[in-house]
Amino acid sequence: MALDSAVIRRQFPFLQERKHPVYLDSAASAQKPDCVLQAMDTFTRTRYANVHRGLYALSEQATDLFEQSRNTVRTFLRARHADEIVFTKSTTEALNLIARSWGHATLRKGDAVALTILEHHSAIVPWLQLKEEKGIEIVWIGIDDQGNVQREELTRALGKGNVRLVSVTGLSNVLGVRPPVGEIAAEARRAGALVAVDAAQWIGHHPISVRELDCDFLAFSGHKPYGPTGIGALYAKRELLRSMPPFLGGGMMIREVHRNGFTPADAPQKFEAGTPPVTEAVGLKAALEWLEAIGWNDIESHEAHLMRVAFDTLRTIPGLRILGPKTPDGASGCVSFVVEGTHPHDLTDLLGQQGFCLRAGHHCAQPLHERLGIPASVRLSVALYNTEEEIRALGPAIARARSVLSK
Ligand code: ALA
Repeated sequence: MALDSAVIRRQFPFLQERKHPVYLDSAASAQKPDCVLQAMDTFTRTRYANVHRGLYALSEQATDLFEQSRNTVRTFLRARHADEIVFTKSTTEALNLIARSWGHATLRKGDAVALTILEHHSAIVPWLQLKEEKGIEIVWIGIDDQGNVQREELTRALGKGNVRLVSVTGLSNVLGVRPPVGEIAAEARRAGALVAVDAAQWIGHHPISVRELDCDFLAFSGHKPYGPTGIGALYAKRELLRSMPPFLGGGMMIREVHRNGFTPADAPQKFEAGTPPVTEAVGLKAALEWLEAIGWNDIESHEAHLMRVAFDTLRTIPGLRILGPKTPDGASGCVSFVVEGTHPHDLTDLLGQQGFCLRAGHHCAQPLHERLGIPASVRLSVALYNTEEEIRALGPAIARARSVLSK
């Protein structure tokens, strides 16, 4: 049965406001359904306590809920063990954790990390920091004009024997392309390298199985798959987490602390210093359960339809150039473009004035924009609550914005 857009839309308070804009910026952050807001509200009002600290019932129940959320993430990612899930504040923190903990402890001068040119700054800057600190090498893997990763460049890089980790996005936040992460992970493994997957965009659009991918690390944020901000997670294989040193020091990440040293707790607690995002974990659980209940077939077919409408609409606009994939089959979740004679910031500003929310800029993917030969682009991104009509209405809105800019 196809997804009933009206039923979905009724669940979003944002869309019940009398005058709400057309929200086409869910790749930056998605709106939240009632069930997520209610779960957090009920928990905060009636069940709230810190976790893993109190010996009283309220805290024990909060701890149970927090750990249930970890288990929901485990199920969602098809991971084997709940202790392979570390809660972080975001994808960014999760990717930094990999570099600061595993990278810092393991990499030596001359070791290399391979990054695709599609990567978001969160998957780039932590490794550039290690380049400065330790003299590691960064190897860039290019793309073709449609955004496909140049696999022969990866093969060549891995052949040199010094690549210790490949970091790859599961879904580009600019071009919407989906690199073949499973194949890349298998190739990296054969060459003795680990694989880290940035699933920040992937998480809300397609199912993920870390077991099938056999990746070593995978990071995502709660606010993209309709959950709250302030929470994210890192999946890492159990044996890796066991061997990695803590990232942040503080409360609850230790077994013992004395004046001259400390012993860390086991994973995942050793990576969760300080009070964790408890309320947000409750919201994340509700969001992931909500997505699973809708079902991936319906999610994927609704969004594929929206992408076809987006391409159809954009293609009719004179002077508009879609970046990356030439057809909607190659893109998922978002499509970026430039319009001849207009600056992306001016265009999105004028679209904003007409009630359309899109993102403009380099979208935290500056090396990708350098590769594309442009400083910035406009991005349209879709989510479950968007409709064909909303996207079609963007065509005339772009035409109106353009006529203002050409005056
Ligand atoms: N990484 C998010 C984006 O692409 C914020 O907009």
